[in-house]
Amino acid sequence: MAPALTKDSESWDVISFAVDKGHGVKGLADLGLQTLPKQYIQPPEEQITNSIVIPDDAIPVIDLSKWPNPEVANAICNAAEKWGFFQIVNHGVPMQVLENVKEATRRFFAQPAEEKNKHSKDNSPSNNVRYGTSFTPKAEKALEWKDFLSLFYVSDDEAAALWPSACRNEAIKFMKESEVVIRRLLEALMKGLNVEEIDQEKESLLMGSKRINLNYYPMCPEPELTVGVGRHSDVSTLTILLQDDIGGLYVKKLDSNEWVHVPPIDGAIVINVGDALQILSNGRYKSIEHRVIANGLKNRISVPIFVNPKPSDVIGPLPEVLKNGEEPIYKQVLYSDYVKHFFRKAHDGKETVDFAKI
Ligand code: OGA
Ligand code: NI
Repeated sequence: MAPALTKDSESWDVISFAVDKGHGVKGLADLGLQTLPKQYIQPPEEQITNSIVIPDDAIPVIDLSKWPNPEVANAICNAAEKWGFFQIVNHGVPMQVLENVKEATRRFFAQPAEEKNKHSKDNSPSNNVRYGTSFTPKAEKALEWKDFLSLFYVSDDEAAALWPSACRNEAIKFMKESEVVIRRLLEALMKGLNVEEIDQEKESLLMGSKRINLNYYPMCPEPELTVGVGRHSDVSTLTILLQDDIGGLYVKKLDSNEWVHVPPIDGAIVINVGDALQILSNGRYKSIEHRVIANGLKNRISVPIFVNPKPSDVIGPLPEVLKNGEEPIYKQVLYSDYVKHFFRKAHDGKETVDFAKI
């Protein structure tokens, strides 16, 4: 533990405490700091001011109770084209499953640093389980005010052996119970691209691998100087995100400089298009920049499931999309190369997808 007398001083090694020793930003918050450590101060252009934010009600909310009504499928495709983000209600994932995985997230992060740090990059016996803080501390000029546990799903047996017991069962349950709705969304989105059937090859490209993250954004001193998560788009095909009732996720409106809040709706799940689906659809569906503000009053959690191609898949515009003579704007790239590119650099908005541009 850092000596209390020096915790606000220049000489105190914040990085060693938060990153190397695994205390995370939760550890910093628990010290009761009155000022934000300088390592977390973002450049002014990344600080999130209220002046560029428009009101709450813009992001589409889609009621899935009428599925497979074609109007529902249309609404999904429209939202994916115009917003890249939407919320779903009456999605069929039991409320108790959602509550349980939020509770499990709080339980995991409430543990002592020594316990959580058993799953850090240096200590975890597997690359598929990773506890960390910020995004890529080694590549970042300024750190982000967030701790996370990232779990790449391989099999139930591996999860039983390697995932932390504080949250393992609840995380797996959320993944499994969301499978039906994920498949429905992808079916609708594929029909919109004239792909009538999701065969084995498409299934691998669209949902061949999954990663679930548990995110913890503790209360932050001087929140306006930093970010919870910086501007980025996801590298997934689709992201299924469960958030609690605090709010703070902002989405950049397509072709504008306005940031729109994604308001927490009890029982809803947030869906967003990721880069892989933007590439597969040759730019028709939009993977939109988003970010999370830090909160000065409350702790926030979120639980995204990243539905991804298999790492060994090669992704590029689907033949069905190019059938009518449309020019491809993306080349074929190995998905694992794409993901490596994303994780090698700090969050930088929509830059990642340039990696796949022709
Ligand atoms: C992410 C992300 C948003 C949130 O983990 O990629 O954008 O609300 N999270 O936590
Ligand atoms: Ni994201």
